[in-house]
Amino acid sequence: MNDLTPTPDILDPIEIASRDEIAALQEKRMAWSLRHAYENSPFYRQRFDAAGAHPDDFKSLADLAKFPFTVKADLRDTYPFGMFAVPQDKLARVHASSGTTGKPTVVGYTAQDIDVWSDMVARSIRASGGRKGDICHVAYGYGLFTGGLGAHYGAERLGCTVVPVSGGMTERQVTLMTDLQPQIVMVTPSYMLSILDEFRRQGLDPRACSLKVGIFGAEPWTNAMRAEIEEAFDMHAVDIYGLSEIMGPGVANECVETKDGLHVWEDHFYPEVIDPATGEVLPDGEIGELVFTTLTKEALPMIRYRTRDLTRIRPGTARSMRRIEKITGRSDDMIILRGVNIFPTQIEEQILKCAGLAPHFQIELTREGRMDAMAVHVECTPERASAEARAATAAELRHHVKSVLGVTARIEVHNPEAVARSEGKAKRVVDNRPK
Ligand code: DLL
Repeated sequence: MNDLTPTPDILDPIEIASRDEIAALQEKRMAWSLRHAYENSPFYRQRFDAAGAHPDDFKSLADLAKFPFTVKADLRDTYPFGMFAVPQDKLARVHASSGTTGKPTVVGYTAQDIDVWSDMVARSIRASGGRKGDICHVAYGYGLFTGGLGAHYGAERLGCTVVPVSGGMTERQVTLMTDLQPQIVMVTPSYMLSILDEFRRQGLDPRACSLKVGIFGAEPWTNAMRAEIEEAFDMHAVDIYGLSEIMGPGVANECVETKDGLHVWEDHFYPEVIDPATGEVLPDGEIGELVFTTLTKEALPMIRYRTRDLTRIRPGTARSMRRIEKITGRSDDMIILRGVNIFPTQIEEQILKCAGLAPHFQIELTREGRMDAMAVHVECTPERASAEARAATAAELRHHVKSVLGVTARIEVHNPEAVARSEGKAKRVVDNRPK
């Protein structure tokens, strides 16, 4: 692996503060955030009143459970600015969610919010192994999506030289990576695979490129995919998590020295995991739905926001801030096939076990009679493209899916480059079932 000194030092002292110090800061900031939401956002005042919860009731972190949840539909129902806690002229910027149907959900930031966001992304890049003076190639999309501008401001804050490429034009991505010699790339893991293909198409050795670390997020990806990317590029692959409603990228990030889940930047975002069916708060270590409360956000405070992301909370390791386990998937992405719950990441793991397959895939759902059926579309590697080899690879994947997930899937092994490529967030599931 590329020579990269691990990160014994940190950007902000709070990253390694004692748990007591962190909890005291959270308690103080939480009291402010609840009061700020109640006093300045009519939406929250009405919600808190209806739930019989008042900011005065908050005495310690355990009292947070008395306050009501917020969900994505609340943002849609109050579109565009109805949940905001500052007047519009205090907004420095808005972003919007990548939702594909109906109106987008709009989120907003004061100048101070952008400042905190930049600090959190700078902290994330540093934890990933990036340093002041590094060249940082940003291939997350710029625009309403938070990925591009979020990464950009954070990289500038750390003191990197930013190359704001945005997504798409894959040939040019490779040209710029070859000529400008970046140490850092920030991009979705699925688009990094498209970039990998392009390196090979141009006859370039990806292991010889200048990259030392990739900071990948915005979609679920597995440790098997991490191994694939690290091996292909001879670099570190680190996970970054975030969501527009809470801020954007940089809510949580892995540390390069441990790569054991993502440290939540708990001085600004308070995590809980709940039982998605009952809303009950689960003890750390149990899997459920991740919920965040913002502790310092001015423009759009989010109180107990239900992310739909499934994970569990673990104690800190490289930092004292707690970690979330790599996200398996969103509850909305879960496929229920003949009563069995399946996440696309589980299919990804099985595909990466098969030597004859490239790491690109798409899942298609159809209905056959009254039953739902699942097809997995994958590609063979150029070395295993004969009809015989493909049939053997399909049988191998079918066997893994059946024995690990317990379902029978139709496996279609296509020619290289037949599966749709991603330039941002990958679309893993195509639902062709009749509505
Ligand atoms: O995806 C923000 C982001 C940009 C994060 C760049 C990381 C890098 P949204 O478009 O609002 O924001 O989508 C948020 O994406 O609730 C998760 O379901 C998913 N997601 C984000 N990061 C990860 C990750 C950005 N590291 C939604 N692993 C979240 C798994 C992720 N899922």
